[in-house]
Amino acid sequence: MKIAAGSVAEIYLDGSARIVCPPELIPAPGQYLLAHADASPHPLPVPLFSSLSAPHGFRSAPTPTPSWRPGDLLALRGPIGHSFVIPPSARRLALIAFDDSPARLLGLIPLALKQNAEIVLVGDSPAEDLPEIVEVQPLKAMLNALQWSDYAALDIERENLPGLRERLERNPQAPAKSEAQVLVRAPMPCGALADCGVCALILRHEWKMICKDGPVFGLGELL
Ligand code: FES
Repeated sequence: MKIAAGSVAEIYLDGSARIVCPPELIPAPGQYLLAHADASPHPLPVPLFSSLSAPHGFRSAPTPTPSWRPGDLLALRGPIGHSFVIPPSARRLALIAFDDSPARLLGLIPLALKQNAEIVLVGDSPAEDLPEIVEVQPLKAMLNALQWSDYAALDIERENLPGLRERLERNPQAPAKSEAQVLVRAPMPCGALADCGVCALILRHEWKMICKDGPVFGLGELL
């Protein structure tokens, strides 16, 4: 983990931002940076996940940063946490945006294409500028996509984990067939620095901190 200065180069209509930063700070898909704008009236840093590659940095997933403006200087810390890891043998990938934009999963597409994998993107929020090779399916196709895939990456809010469990319990064969990892989203104000506990998650009677034990977990750990 490193600390460095960066800046906001551009802010897009969907709330994502082009961040300029040293290459070693660019988070891998699933990891995040904590960012605080010098001029921001908000005391807490914001977790930034990468979405797409961009010149001299990366484009973040949409993030609520109401006071940020292009040109703002950022104090950055990261990359933090566990990233997604596509098994080298995977040839059929399901990217599942359970309850939000698929932006945090898009960085996996170029990695999957490098290993000649087929990709299906599942979710009910639109994604722009996808390579033609990526098939798009609505969320109701999730179980089929899990059965078809040999690796799946999911993105879900912590509060929606019971809903995911419920869907999977109705069809236990689906997750068993693919190797799957889940990015669990929650507020992460201290980013593993102060053990604030805001990002806590109880798994099998044990407390985990999403900011440092995740944010990417094996699906098996969550069921
Ligand atoms: S964000 Fe503070 S412990 Fe996770």
